[in-house]
Amino acid sequence: MKDRVELLTERLRLRRARQGDAPVLFRNYTGAQNCSRFLQRRPHKDVAHTEAMLEKWCISAWNQADAPFSWVISTLDDDEPIGLFVVIPDGHKTEIHFGISERFWGRGLVAEAGQAAVSALWRSPDVQRIWTVCDVENTGSRRVLEKLGFRCEGTLHKWLVLPAFGNLARDCYVFASTSRRGVAGVE
Ligand SMILES: CC(C)(COP(=O)(O)OP(=O)(O)OC[C@H]1O[C@@H](n2cnc3c(N)ncnc32)[C@H](O)[C@@H]1OP(=O)(O)O)[C@@H](O)C(=O)NCCC(=O)NCCS
Repeated sequence: MKDRVELLTERLRLRRARQGDAPVLFRNYTGAQNCSRFLQRRPHKDVAHTEAMLEKWCISAWNQADAPFSWVISTLDDDEPIGLFVVIPDGHKTEIHFGISERFWGRGLVAEAGQAAVSALWRSPDVQRIWTVCDVENTGSRRVLEKLGFRCEGTLHKWLVLPAFGNLARDCYVFASTSRRGVAGVE
């Protein structure tokens, strides 16, 4: 479990969940309408939902090799939880998802978090492909993936149903990194 460790970047901390995270993360991210627009889930309705998610993904899963888990992304200066970096291992493939509070968008923070996370994921010898999909209209996410050195492998038509857009499935780009050498920040 070389990946399930706390990571520090210039401005951020990627860590497991701590007591008191749920209400702040709910306000900042998991309960926010705008942050969920391009996600496969609706905004959390209450703090209890976020609490349960943190317990499962950001505490229990940290002790289980190969289980899907998530880092909490917090600010380095005051350790405010502002987002999540989700990791779903599946054999040699690892899927990622990410997001932070709208208050912090546009400062290159998710790319900074992503660089640290992807470097950590590549430390696992089993990993041969790190990948994700993003909605064709999610320009911010696409830019983050490009900054990380991921390659767009094409478009998956009618791939994701995003609750914010109703039942009609949406087109998505597939982005992947298949070599640690191609990734920004990975030696
Ligand atoms: C998408 C997201 C992760 C981007 O993170 P970020 O830290 O704000 O990203 P950056 O600051 O590196 O900005 C990304 C780039 O996209 C641009 N951008 C951001 N939102 C944009 C928008 N709505 N339209 C056009 N460009 C946009 C920024 O100007 C920036 O461009 P640049 O790198 O050329 O300067 C963030 O908006 C977020 O958390 N969204 C909610 C969750 C989400 O959608 N996650 C992705 C699911 S696939």
